[in-house]
Amino acid sequence: MQLLKGKTAIITGGTAGIGKAIACLYAQAGADVIIFGTNQSRADQAIEEIQQSRSNSEQKAISFLLDVSKTKEVDEAIASILKDFGKVDILVNNAGITRDGLLMKMSEEDWDLVIDVNLKSVYNTCRALSRPMMKARSGCIINISSVIGLTGNAGQVNYAASKSGMIGLTKSLAKEFASRGIRANCIAPGYIETQMTDALAPAVKEAIIAKVPLARIGQPLDIANAALYLASDLASYVTGQVLTVDGGMVI
Ligand SMILES: NC(=O)c1ccc[n+]([C@@H]2O[C@H](COP(=O)([O-])OP(=O)(O)OC[C@H]3O[C@@H](n4cnc5c(N)ncnc54)[C@H](OP(=O)(O)O)[C@@H]3O)[C@@H](O)[C@H]2O)c1
Repeated sequence: MQLLKGKTAIITGGTAGIGKAIACLYAQAGADVIIFGTNQSRADQAIEEIQQSRSNSEQKAISFLLDVSKTKEVDEAIASILKDFGKVDILVNNAGITRDGLLMKMSEEDWDLVIDVNLKSVYNTCRALSRPMMKARSGCIINISSVIGLTGNAGQVNYAASKSGMIGLTKSLAKEFASRGIRANCIAPGYIETQMTDALAPAVKEAIIAKVPLARIGQPLDIANAALYLASDLASYVTGQVLTVDGGMVI
């Protein structure tokens, strides 16, 4: 089923992991896809995979190299996308980083960086698209938060604050935008196999999986499937929600 036929979607952090899986699935569902990232070779590889996933060779797949935490870079990219595509129907704020450490030892730099990349980026993209989406009287925003934003985690005050912040931002946006036909929702992934979690020690990975009732690590496609549902008309009456996709970790 072509759930996103004729739609244009921006996926930040679409060059790797969860974002790349979302971009590929959206292309398979019929969307034109634009990805944001910072790494040229990862972007090239992702575009190749997105092109292979397309249901029709006329669908577009392009990348922008930029830092999502920089307001000017985001404004310029979105202005250029609107000029070329005429509209953006779906925005997925997925770009994210970790700089873990106990609060006592956390540098101001690590605090600022995580808040800027994970949370200020959402302000940047949503603000840049608010006017065109409101004018179009339609749009869909999906913000990739985390179960850590719901539960907190020792050693991740910066990351947890950014991910909880995304939830408050999303619920507020949902209220601000609903009358204009724009929906805003979060996905809170649990433990998903990507380069972000590859960095964890084997013992830490085993301890996390032991807490997952479905007894396996999640795959990027598990999150992409949820992002496809939320972006599609199947979710046309869903806004302001947090969809937790974590194998039952947080119940
Ligand atoms: N993996 C998990 O278990 C898990 C769990 C819960 C939530 N999440 C969330 O899911 C999202 C994706 O995570 P992932 O595991 O797929 O991570 P990942 O594999 O490390 O990918 C992160 C993506 O973000 C992009 N990115 C990072 N900093 C950026 C910046 N300043 N500007 C533009 N793009 C930037 C990266 O692009 P470049 O490589 O091109 O720089 C990459 O495409 C994150 O928000 C993460 O917090 C992940």
